Formats: sequence, C-alpha cells, structure tokens
Amino acid sequence: MNLADVLYAPESPAHDTEIDAINEEAFGPGRYTRAAYRIREGGPHDRTLSFVALRDGVVIASVRQTPVVAGKGRAVLLGPLAVRPAFKNLGIGRRLVAIALEAARAAGWPAVVLVGDEPYYGPLGFRRIPYGQLEMPGPVDQNRLLAVELQPGAVARLQGMMQNAASAPRTAFSAPKVMAAS
Ligand SMILES: CC(C)(COP(=O)(O)OP(=O)(O)OC[C@H]1O[C@@H](n2cnc3c(N)ncnc32)[C@H](O)[C@@H]1OP(=O)(O)O)[C@@H](O)C(=O)NCCC(=O)NCCS
Repeated sequence: MNLADVLYAPESPAHDTEIDAINEEAFGPGRYTRAAYRIREGGPHDRTLSFVALRDGVVIASVRQTPVVAGKGRAVLLGPLAVRPAFKNLGIGRRLVAIALEAARAAGWPAVVLVGDEPYYGPLGFRRIPYGQLEMPGPVDQNRLLAVELQPGAVARLQGMMQNAASAPRTAFSAPKVMAAS
C-alpha cells in the first residue's frame, strides 16, 4: 500500500461509527471493563486532540485523547489507539501517536498518559510512571502506566486516583492556558 494515500485528520462525529467498529475489532467486548475505559466513560474525549487515519475516505485507524486529573496534576489520557488489521505495521499507529502528542503539546497540556505496552510506546517518548504514584478505577498493571512529560514536573503532580476531568470537582480542573504570543 502507498502510504501517501493515507490522510491524517482530526476526528469528527461523522467518524464515530467507524471508530467504534475499529475498537470493537481491536479490543472486543472486554474493552468496557478496562480501567482506562472506566475513566473515559466519565466524560467526553476531546475531538481536537483525537485523530483518524483515512484511506479513500474510510477510517483505517483512530486515536483518542481524554482530559484527566489526578492529585494536583492534569493530563490527557491517550487511547484507545487502534489500527485496522490490514493496515498494521506500516507506521500508522506511530504516526497517530506522534500527531496526538503534538496536538496535546500545542494545546498546552502538561502531560500525556496511557496504559499500554512499554516496548511500543517507549520509543515514542513514553516512560513508566513511578510505581504506586497513580491509581486507576480498576486493576492496572503498573508496568503499563506510561507518560510523556510535556512540561517540567507535570508527571510528579499526577498523584493518586486518576479521574475523568469532566467528573472531577470544577476547582480541580481547568483547560490549559496557552500563552498567546504578543
Ligand atoms: C498496537 C497498534 C496500535 C500498532 O499500530 P501499527 O500501525 O500496526 O504499528 P506501527 O506500524 O506504528 O509500528 C509497528 C511496530 O510496532 C511493533 N508493535 C506493535 N504492537 C506492539 C506491542 N504491543 N508491543 C511492542 N511492539 C509492538 C511491531 O512489531 C512493529 O515493529 P517493527 O517496526 O520493529 O517492525 C496496532 O497493532 C493495533 O491496533 N493493535 C490492536 C489494538 C492495541 O493493542 N492497541 C494498543 C493498546 S496499548
């Protein structure tokens, strides 16, 4: 396949049905019981930080990001990330993660966290969060709790139970302030 035929675009509501099918195919019904899903169901993902890969107008891969808080910290939770089987191992997943990270950075988010395989995400800049620092509303393998720090000290501020920002007390969360260039 020619990778030049793959277009990367911000997610829109028109993509929802195809994204649901991709996630069903990748993770099956068990996805609803995962700790990360429990956080995601607490509020909407941020479409401006969520992206699709399209080929001939058809969604072939998707990544979503959801604002979260934990302790005094805030971040976006990356995931689910899924690529249609016929398009795996072409670099599409890596590219979507890179686009998602850049969007989070540009929007002023201090960190991106996820639950995933360190061998895959490590080369993309993710590092393990120190054991016991962060909890999820469900069992999670601490070896798979990873983060990219976009602003110094941001990961250390993520302490205790991670919550969807939309479910957290208002005082605990505010959208990042991006300093306008003057
Ligand atoms: C994981 C996934 C998103 C990777 O997307 P992709 O577009 O196929 O991957 P890329 O082309 O960017 O990267 C391929 C490389 O990653 C490696 N890789 C894929 N999944 C991996 C994993 N779980 N752990 C370690 N390496 C992995 C491949 O072996 C390949 O290595 P190579 O470049 O040395 O050959 C895709 O396989 C998928 O949708 N899987 C099912 C859902 C899933 O597990 N999502 C991630 C949740 S943490």
